[in-house]
Amino acid sequence: MTMKLVALLSAAAILGISTTTTATAFITPKPSVAVTSTTTALDATIAVFGASGLTAQECIYQALKDGDKVVGLTRNPSKLVIPKGSGGVDADKPLVDSNLTVIAGDVTNPADVAKVFENDIDGVIVALGGKTSDVGDTMLTVGTNNIMSAMKQKGVKRIAVVTSIGAGNSKDQAPFAFKILMMTVMKKIFTDKNNQEKAVQESGLEYCIVRPGGLTVEKPTGVINVIDGEAGSIPRADVAQFCLEAVKDVNFPYVGQTPCISSVGGTSWVKDRSKAARGEQ
Ligand SMILES: NC(=O)c1ccc[n+]([C@@H]2O[C@H](COP(=O)([O-])OP(=O)(O)OC[C@H]3O[C@@H](n4cnc5c(N)ncnc54)[C@H](OP(=O)(O)O)[C@@H]3O)[C@@H](O)[C@H]2O)c1
Repeated sequence: MTMKLVALLSAAAILGISTTTTATAFITPKPSVAVTSTTTALDATIAVFGASGLTAQECIYQALKDGDKVVGLTRNPSKLVIPKGSGGVDADKPLVDSNLTVIAGDVTNPADVAKVFENDIDGVIVALGGKTSDVGDTMLTVGTNNIMSAMKQKGVKRIAVVTSIGAGNSKDQAPFAFKILMMTVMKKIFTDKNNQEKAVQESGLEYCIVRPGGLTVEKPTGVINVIDGEAGSIPRADVAQFCLEAVKDVNFPYVGQTPCISSVGGTSWVKDRSKAARGEQ
C-alpha cells in the first residue's frame, strides 16, 4: 500500500467515513467516499488553461504554494488575481510569482497554445469556461483539442479537464433544477462540454475529466466526495486541489475516469457567488 493511500484512508477514518482497507475499495469508490489528500509528486511545471478563471486561479495559487511552477494561458492576464477561497487576506491582489509565467493568448489559436508548450510541462489543467455568447459555441472543444495536440507533440501525458456535473453520462447526477438549465439556457454549453469530454476520452492521454457540482468561492473544505448520486456543491478551491492531484500524482486513482465531485451534501445546491468574485453585479 502506498504512503499516499495510507494517508487517504487515515483521513477517511478521521472523517468517520467507512472504507474497506484495500486499494481497490478506494480506486472504485462507493458514493461519498472522501478523497482528502496529500500530494506526493515532486515539484512540477503545470500548464493551466483559462488562467484568469475562478477555478484556474485556485489551481495556480495552490500550485505555487506547493512549490510548483505554473504556465498559464488567458486572454486577459490582468484579471489574474489571488483567489478569494484560498487567498485569505491577500485575495484580489494581482497574482505575481517568480514561478508563474502568464501568456496572453486565445486557446482556440494553436500558435498561442504552442507558446505554453515552449516550456517543459509535466501536467495540464484545463479550466476553461464562459457563456457561449461570450466565448463561442465550440471554444471548449476546439481549445481542448489544440491543447491535446500540443501535448502529444511534446510527449506530455497527464491532463485534468474541468467540465461539469450533468456532462456526458452524469446527466442524472445533476439536480432537477440544473437539468432544466442544461436543456434550455445552457444547451449550447453542454453540447460543447459533451464534445470536449468525448475528445478527451478518445485522446489516448492520461486524462481525468473532473465533473464538479455547483461551484462556490468559499475556503477549501479539504473534503472532496466522489459521488455516484446527485451532486451537491464544492468550493473551487477543493476542485483545484483535486485537479492538482490528478496531474501530479502518478498513482492518481481516477486516471481515465470521469469523477463527479462535491463537498457539501449530495442534494443541496449552494448559491453561486462567482459573479461577485469576478467583480460583476
Ligand atoms: N458555475 C458552476 O456552478 C459550475 C458548476 C460545474 C462546472 N462548472 C464549470 O467549471 C469550469 C470552470 O468554471 P469557473 O466559473 O471557475 O470558470 P470561469 O471563472 O468562468 O473561467 C473560465 C475562464 O476561461 C477563459 N477562457 C474563455 N475563453 C477562452 C479562450 N478562447 N482562450 C483562453 N481562455 C479562455 C476565461 O479567461 P479569459 O476570458 O480571461 O481568457 C475565463 O477566465 C467551467 O467549464 C464551468 O462551466 C461550473
